[in-house]
Amino acid sequence: MAARTSNPTTRFVGLDSWERQIKAAQAMPADLRLTFQQARVDGRLPFDDASVDVAYSNNLLECIADKTAFLREVAGVLRPGGQVLFAHWDWDSQIFDGSDKALVRKLIHTFADWQQPWMEHSDPWMGRRLWGAFQETGDFDGEVLTRVLTNITYAEPWYGHREVQDLGELVKHGLVSAEPPPTATSTVSPATSTKAAARLNSPPTVSLPLSNPALPVP
Ligand SMILES: C[S@@+](CC[C@H](N)C(=O)[O-])C[C@H]1O[C@@H](n2cnc3c(N)ncnc32)[C@H](O)[C@@H]1O
Repeated sequence: MAARTSNPTTRFVGLDSWERQIKAAQAMPADLRLTFQQARVDGRLPFDDASVDVAYSNNLLECIADKTAFLREVAGVLRPGGQVLFAHWDWDSQIFDGSDKALVRKLIHTFADWQQPWMEHSDPWMGRRLWGAFQETGDFDGEVLTRVLTNITYAEPWYGHREVQDLGELVKHGLVSAEPPPTATSTVSPATSTKAAARLNSPPTVSLPLSNPALPVP
């Protein structure tokens, strides 16, 4: 967002409750218009009422327990005519190619249902529920834009490649066994933390539906 505007008076404030994320953001090339704060966003937001022009969020809402209360707070800090752009993957409808269909399906669903250690809440269907969450508040009007990201290159730094590495985390955390079932006929290499992902190493395409509504406040 900052790169898209050269206005020197625009201020961007990034919030996250996780210190690691804040440190990573602060390590980005300096832009004096940007500040980052380690703060929870459920509860009071650190902004005056009606003081914010645009609220942007990516893949946050699934982590928030009371989505309605949070979104009402967002509406409260937006100035009249302000806008929100909230995007969220729908984790359970990711599509990967691979030689073993049953394994690919299992990995997708196990990953989607995995509440990772850093998450207080999770919802793999948040993408498809995004619009409903906003409607629940009665405070927003706008539209839902659904995007499908298709990666045709399976390599760093493509998003789908990174996602497949995340599937490998399921093995590390003991949620999926890297050992093939006794009857399996697929060619699988021995177990390590990345082997579940390794079995997917052939896929050239990864498609991820993304519900990405831009919801201007009336
Ligand atoms: C899936 S990550 C998305 C990170 C980043 N927005 C992105 O798109 O890469 C979700 C982020 O929400 C943060 N988060 C979860 N619950 C939060 C809360 N209550 N207040 C502030 N941040 C929270 C987590 O620390 C995590 O960094």
